[in-house]
Amino acid sequence: MRDAGLISAAQRVEHYEMAGYGSARTYAELLNDAEGAKLLQTTLEEEGATDKKLTKLAKSAINLAANK
Ligand SMILES: [Fe+2]
Repeated sequence: MRDAGLISAAQRVEHYEMAGYGSARTYAELLNDAEGAKLLQTTLEEEGATDKKLTKLAKSAINLAANK
């Protein structure tokens, strides 16, 4: 149960980060900062990849074990 809670908390952090990086990327685009926008997009994608890994983990045995 504790692991399931930790994964859930980590996913909330990832989503918060994704919102921030997505906004910053858009601001960079609006300011014609192509390099900054590209770097922020890369970071955004890394956050998304982490979130997907956490989702995979959450769907694994961890949540099934928490259900017992
Ligand atoms: Fe993150």
